[in-house]
Order: sequence, then structure tokens, then C-alpha cells
Amino acid sequence: MPDAVAVDPLLLRARAAAERAYAPYSKFRVGAAVEADGRAYAGCNVENASYGLTVCAERVALFTAVAAGHRRSQRIAVTCVDAGPDLGEGGRMPCGACRQVMAELMGPDGEVLVDGVGAFRVSELLPSAFTF
Ligand code: THU
Repeated sequence: MPDAVAVDPLLLRARAAAERAYAPYSKFRVGAAVEADGRAYAGCNVENASYGLTVCAERVALFTAVAAGHRRSQRIAVTCVDAGPDLGEGGRMPCGACRQVMAELMGPDGEVLVDGVGAFRVSELLPSAFTF
């Protein structure tokens, strides 16, 4: 999806965050930015030599908002800056684990802006989310 004249500022924050990604293994840089009560919090993916310890950009951003005192976030923007055209939309969408965290910290009506794909509600991305 080509950029419109005005790019959502939250998406610009996510793109800037992707530049800070620590992704020496996958070389797949991801950036995210969360809007919570009018404030923005950014995150990038942080990988580890023990691969399973890697944390996605979305969760870094959402957890950073919580650490700053925001237990509810209204919007999140996500960008996979290394996703080439051959990868398709699926290569730009948030993973299942991040969707579950979005469900908890954003609620079903939270907005998810996926760079190059479009805008979604959390409930669209994860219907019937686990709740406790
Ligand atoms: N990644 C994210 O940051 N967010 C997602 O939603 C999917 C995957 C990261 C994890 C890993 O560092 C790299 O992308 C390749 O999977």
C-alpha cells in the first residue's frame, strides 16, 4: 500500500523504532508504536542467541506502555521494514502471541495499524481471545 499524503504519526514512530531492532539472527527488523492516553511508546524486536527468548516489537511497545503506567493502550502501529514484496501481507501481520497480548492490554476494540496492509480491530485479529 503506497503511503498517502499524510502518514499516521504513530506509524512514523514505528518505522523509526524498527531502525533500532536487534535482529542479528533473522535480519528481519520490526518496529511498533503504541498510543496510550495520548502518549506514544515505541518498541522493536529484540532477539537472543537462545532463539526462543526473542521478544517481538509489539510486545516490547505494549509492555513499555504498561511500565510507564498505562494498563490500557488504544492503538498500535506495526511495521516490518524488511518484508519484501514476495512475502505478501502475511509477512507483515502481528504473530499470534502478540495478538493475545493486544487482547489483554488493548481490548477487543483496540486499533491495529499494519504498515502496507491496513487497519484492524483486535477482535478481528483474534476472535474468541483467551480471557482470565
Ligand atoms: N517479529 C516481531 O517482532 N513481531 C511479529 O509480530 C512477528 C515476528 C520478529 C521476531 C523475530 O525477531 C523476527 O520478527 C522474525 O520472526
